[in-house]
Amino acid sequence: MVPRALARLFQLKGTGPFLNTRRNNMDYKQQVVTALSAVLGADLDAETISQLIEQPKSDDLGDYAFPTFALAKVRRMAPPKIAADIVAAIDQTDFDHVVATGAYVNFFLDKVAFAQDTLTAIAEQGEHFGDAQAGSGNVPIDMSSPNIAKPMSMGHLRSTVIGNSLAKILTKVGYTPIKINYLGDWGTQFGKLIVAYKKWGSEADVKADPIKHLLEYYVRFHAEAETQPELDDEARAWFKKLEDGDAEATKLWEWFRGESLKEFKRIYDVLGVDFDSYNGEAFMNDKMDPVIRELQDKHLLKESQGAEIVDLDAYGMNPALIRKSDGATLYMTRDLAAAIYRHDHYDFTQSLYVVGMEQKEHFAQLKAVLLEMGHEWANDIHHIPFGLITANGKKLSTRKGNVILLDKVLQEAVDLAKAQIAAKHPDLENQDEVAQAVGVGAVVFHDLKSERKDSFDFNLEEVVRFEGETGPYVQYTNARAHSILTKAAVQPDATVHLTDANAWPVLKQLAAFPDIVLRAATEYEPSVIAKYALRLAKSFNQYYAHTKVLVDDEELAGRLALVQSVTVVLTAALGLLGVKAPAAM
Ligand code: ARG
Repeated sequence: MVPRALARLFQLKGTGPFLNTRRNNMDYKQQVVTALSAVLGADLDAETISQLIEQPKSDDLGDYAFPTFALAKVRRMAPPKIAADIVAAIDQTDFDHVVATGAYVNFFLDKVAFAQDTLTAIAEQGEHFGDAQAGSGNVPIDMSSPNIAKPMSMGHLRSTVIGNSLAKILTKVGYTPIKINYLGDWGTQFGKLIVAYKKWGSEADVKADPIKHLLEYYVRFHAEAETQPELDDEARAWFKKLEDGDAEATKLWEWFRGESLKEFKRIYDVLGVDFDSYNGEAFMNDKMDPVIRELQDKHLLKESQGAEIVDLDAYGMNPALIRKSDGATLYMTRDLAAAIYRHDHYDFTQSLYVVGMEQKEHFAQLKAVLLEMGHEWANDIHHIPFGLITANGKKLSTRKGNVILLDKVLQEAVDLAKAQIAAKHPDLENQDEVAQAVGVGAVVFHDLKSERKDSFDFNLEEVVRFEGETGPYVQYTNARAHSILTKAAVQPDATVHLTDANAWPVLKQLAAFPDIVLRAATEYEPSVIAKYALRLAKSFNQYYAHTKVLVDDEELAGRLALVQSVTVVLTAALGLLGVKAPAAM
């Protein structure tokens, strides 16, 4: 038993920092397949055996289970009898033990070897534990993308934190993400904004609080235009001027854009998110004509009530609106140009759009038009939708005053964290920095732990809760593990035998991390990581409640290796969510 474990250890040592324990886990499953093949070879091939193997939910049923139902016909025997026969015949040397339970054969792994393999892999690979080469190439991620002159909505926050997390997850599995903030900085609303500003605006007000006042002008414009329809004509005229490059219009537009962006960047700083590109809708201005020409050349553009459209009947979709009767381009026109630009510029392997579920049809149409144009690469475009955040069950609406002020939420969370830390850990040095990490982490984690597509009702008390299934709970667990290591007089050592049965659930969670990362990547689902972090934190806390770590016996260094592995993996998991993991709090 020991020599084999040691042999595996040396194998691990030889393969360098990018080694993946996933291979290891598969080795364990492979051991089961090999042992079963030796006794079942005549009836089932290895591939089929591998597909039949299950991972039991409960530890009492072992680590792998093989159901024998598929053999009942060939062998003309009752499944429990087949299971018993297999156990009698199988070579058990690779396992702790193998037993029959009803129709199943249950395999119990050699726990000592498993512990050593897992802890050694984590000790050697550190933050690279779980790295993989699941894919490659550039992956533009369209994320955040708020609209200039309007407050950033909760929807934009979701897009920001989901996109940021996906970028980190995709990096870990081999891709090169490009985070694009496709600002809503063009469109007829800028004509309205210019008219409103010229009529009722004040330079000083805009400078003092740009988003508040710009929004005010915009709302007032809509109210007054109800009784004065000529305002709409003026707005159209100003937007036309802007599109034609008029100096005054351009100057105002640049100013509004700059002031808004400054405020958005303040929020991004707090969240710790940055972007590779801020090319928004306006960037597409000189890139739409070629698209329209291409559509014309390919005979895809049709007239409909004065407007120009692409018919998508064949896809069972509404037509895509390309140009209005007055020649103005639309959201769709700019997105077509943006998609083509990203393809030409980044030569992507996938192109992602993290945008709310309500734009589902828009992205389906975008893809369909590109396919109609013959751009096969449109199949690599994926809309990554997410659910709505409501407040008191109602849709949020800036115009109706049903808003959640992101700034306020973050501030409140940070203040609460500060109070808790001051009470629990008054001598902590960098209290403000830690409070920031915990408060912001709480908000981000809360958003990412529910499945992307779920809608949820926003409840401030819930968001700033630090107990239960929350980011701060995971952060506290990690800090606790760090403090154990600080108190220890001995160095962790992954090669020391760890036989404590209490450690087993923690070890299994640790070893599962690489698979979890891959699943999060293929499903574009950060919640897979968040839920995993909660499970690992919980199993570690249970372990810690039952086992005294800092006892001077022959397994001390092994237990410390376990504790250290927990800090490494919790820190990595939080990192993939864009949440910091302070070593003390
Ligand atoms: N600015 C848009 C909005 O707030 C989101 C843009 C999403 N990205 C895109 N390529 N259409 O609704």
